Amino acid sequence: MKRTKIFRLLQSDAPADNVLVKGWVRTTRDSKTFSFVEVNDGSCLSNIQIIADNSLENYDEVKKLTTGSAVAVTGSLSESQGKGQKWEITANRLDIISLAPETYPLQKKRHTDEFLRTIAHLRPRTNKYGAAFRIRSELSYAIHKFFRDRDFRYLHTPIITGSDCEGAGELFRVTSLDFDGLPKKEGKPDDSKDFFGKAANLTVSGQLSAEMFALALGDVYTFGPTFRAENSNTRRHAAEFWMVEPEMAFCDLEGNMELAEDLIKYPIQHVIEECEADIGLFARFVDKNLMKTLENITASDYIRLPYREAVEILKKSKKKFDHDIEFGKDMQTEHERYLTEHHFKKPVIVYDYPKTIKPFYMRMNDDNETVAAMDVLVPGIGEIIGGSQREERAEVLKSRMSETGLPEDNYWWYLESREYGTVPHSGFGLGFERFIMLVTGIRNIRDVIPFPRTPGSIEF
Ligand code: 4AD
Ligand code: MG
Repeated sequence: MKRTKIFRLLQSDAPADNVLVKGWVRTTRDSKTFSFVEVNDGSCLSNIQIIADNSLENYDEVKKLTTGSAVAVTGSLSESQGKGQKWEITANRLDIISLAPETYPLQKKRHTDEFLRTIAHLRPRTNKYGAAFRIRSELSYAIHKFFRDRDFRYLHTPIITGSDCEGAGELFRVTSLDFDGLPKKEGKPDDSKDFFGKAANLTVSGQLSAEMFALALGDVYTFGPTFRAENSNTRRHAAEFWMVEPEMAFCDLEGNMELAEDLIKYPIQHVIEECEADIGLFARFVDKNLMKTLENITASDYIRLPYREAVEILKKSKKKFDHDIEFGKDMQTEHERYLTEHHFKKPVIVYDYPKTIKPFYMRMNDDNETVAAMDVLVPGIGEIIGGSQREERAEVLKSRMSETGLPEDNYWWYLESREYGTVPHSGFGLGFERFIMLVTGIRNIRDVIPFPRTPGSIEF
């Protein structure tokens, strides 16, 4: 007999005779002649209540069941008399697959996020993390569906690259050189002796590769891991995170903003409908304003604001910021959050940033001072999306590369795409973990990643 997921069982509309569930014991409660055993199989937030009575041949063992033990239960599904649950199972067989010792680290009380991060295998068995990672899964499905419905093609871009898309130098080197006999040239490691014959690193963004394919397939997107050796221990930076990067041919900044807004709204609406119980947990225990925030984000038209005006608003505000802001300076999280949480009280798309604070590939505006960049800012997080229209004019691109000190020989292939049938095109990157933080109200990026990688931390 095949096991049924509890998630499916709870959707039953009629009793059933022979069902099999397998899962882990959450709690047990004994009376004289029978025990209640609450079982959870991770398929949903709810447990199913098992009634095990003394007619079971191993009833003595069943009475000794501990939290965390794994069981297989065969029995009949019937309407529950108890409060708060529709269905329960009366067992005619209960096999103990493994008995957990009494030292099971998870207690009934709520544990701190910090403590749970130290137990790799049990963190996802808690209600909160089970819900978070089911939502993560469903959100990624919704993102693929969003793009497929719009005829975008999914592109797998390389993890190992020879370029630094963002030009910020936050690269993890990838090498097969032997560190104890490192071949050297002019005092530095000799990259020509390395695996690829040149220096390689983990990708910081799939964008440059996505552009190549947008200029062939039209609309594409990547959705994969990216890596940044950013040594900042903040609650919204991870060294390994996932990014969703659409790239559209024949598209300007305006079209880019429209897609960005839709890409945020659709998956949120999807999980509100499909993950009601899991989202409900976050709305009750993590962020009491969650549903209001999500409603605001899915229902409102986002503000579109030139960077220059954003700076004026920030300068005129009465708020004391830790960092000064003026034209030409990068906005800090505190500035981004002020704009979206206090000033406009909804998502804000800031665009036309000074070229001096943005990467080489962004399209130069006619003022020669700003580029067609855009960042989407949302409450609680700040920047969730960064993108731009791309510089499609070969000559302008070349001069931007030399201005920003990028070696042309690493990017010749990229430059070549501006030779043959170059077109206006645009794209952006949505930080997937920041998106999950937005949807769940979870405040720390570590808590939306199954195995977070941050400075000084890679235990498992
Ligand atoms: O703004 P970023 O650096 O943009 C790019 O990488 C572009 N090449 C994307 C593109 O146009 N195709 O990063 C995009 C988003 C940010 O807005 C943020 O949400 C997320 O990626 N992000 C991070 N998330 C977690 N940890 C980090 N260290 C992040 N760095 C960026
Ligand atoms: Mg950015």
